[in-house]
Amino acid sequence: MTQITIKTPQMKKGSYKIEIGANTLNSVLAKIQADFPQKKLYIITDSAVAKAGHLKTLLAGTDVLSYVIDPSGEVSKNINTVISIIEDMETRSLGRDSVITALGGGTVGDIAGFAAAIFKRGIPVVQVPTTTVSQADSAIGGKTGVDSSMSKNAFGAFWYPAAVFIDVTTLMTLQENEYLSGLVESVKHALIADAKYLEFIEKNIDRLKACDLEILEQIAVYNCNIKGRIVEDDPTEKNLRRVLNYGHTIGHAVESASYFRLLHGQAVAIGMVGAAMMEIEMGIGTQERLKRIESILKKLSQPTRIPADLPKEKIIDLLRRDKKAVNKWPKFVLLEKEGKVYKQGDQFAVDVNQTVVEKVLDQLYKPV
Ligand SMILES: NC(=O)c1ccc[n+]([C@@H]2O[C@H](COP(=O)([O-])OP(=O)(O)OC[C@H]3O[C@@H](n4cnc5c(N)ncnc54)[C@H](O)[C@@H]3O)[C@@H](O)[C@H]2O)c1
Ligand SMILES: [Zn+2]
Repeated sequence: MTQITIKTPQMKKGSYKIEIGANTLNSVLAKIQADFPQKKLYIITDSAVAKAGHLKTLLAGTDVLSYVIDPSGEVSKNINTVISIIEDMETRSLGRDSVITALGGGTVGDIAGFAAAIFKRGIPVVQVPTTTVSQADSAIGGKTGVDSSMSKNAFGAFWYPAAVFIDVTTLMTLQENEYLSGLVESVKHALIADAKYLEFIEKNIDRLKACDLEILEQIAVYNCNIKGRIVEDDPTEKNLRRVLNYGHTIGHAVESASYFRLLHGQAVAIGMVGAAMMEIEMGIGTQERLKRIESILKKLSQPTRIPADLPKEKIIDLLRRDKKAVNKWPKFVLLEKEGKVYKQGDQFAVDVNQTVVEKVLDQLYKPV
């Protein structure tokens, strides 16, 4: 078992612990109750996670109140679910002295975290992530929220977890495409922050694909340290936190253009290949690095080219409307080398002109 401590931002003094282990889920509630002896516990999960048996394991025979979001997944990540949760808590006479435990992937974590942020002006949330995305990414960093009918995470708040418990064993019941595409965020962390981590992934890729618990624990430690430290330094995304957006600018556009047929990690995989191509065009990248990234992604069964049926004009239009676009053109996070992000002055998100991006998009349509 490994324990990591992450400081919360200055405006909110303190820190939270992340506990990483295997087969630890059945002892999590007892630990939460010990950390919050006077508080009432309330679990939020979803139907697929419950069906996979994880709610039962978490409960470990206790009768802690729970709310099961149904259906599971992004369709339920909206304000109606949050209202329903809050009203359920009131119906069950839960008040400010409650603690929410979020058991599930990023959708459960985002919904439960947001519900915790606004219930009676805020109560603690403990994150218990069960997907490769949530264990590497969404459970750490304090971003919570739900979608409106028009955009993702339109309602949201920064609400730091009181603690995070990662049991890598839970990943074994994930669908293979969810499991593998979620690992793309781990490859991203290695590329932006730690060349040794990248070597670790390459060396252990077969064991990783086979859901080897020892490797998964080590990956979780790398991920939590990398994401945790970045968020510690820049909690509100002024500059450094933007490095986490590596591969995401093209990735988000491709994901939207596919009407979410591509999973987030699959779209980010294409975006990271695009970033490596841009680096070559700008004289800061190498063919060798591009090939290395493509090879890892292929071994994880991830796409490295844009599907031919997604129109290029649509992707360019989406890039112009990127959330972080300035004068209708986004900035991009690029690498100087494996484990190090390229900077223009002190900026981590840099200018790449449209001609270069269009040339790269053309390359991304060519079959490998
Ligand atoms: N807050 C953040 O910083 C942040 C970061 C990245 C992503 N996100 C958000 O996370 C969401 C995506 O999260 P996700 O990829 O974890 O998807 P998810 O939570 O929707 O999970 C995918 C599917 O797998 C099921 N599932 C979860 N764990 C399982 C398990 N162990 N066994 C079997 N089935 C399981 C879920 O019920 C769901 O049907 C998006 O809404 C995204 O916006 C947030
Ligand atoms: Zn992502």
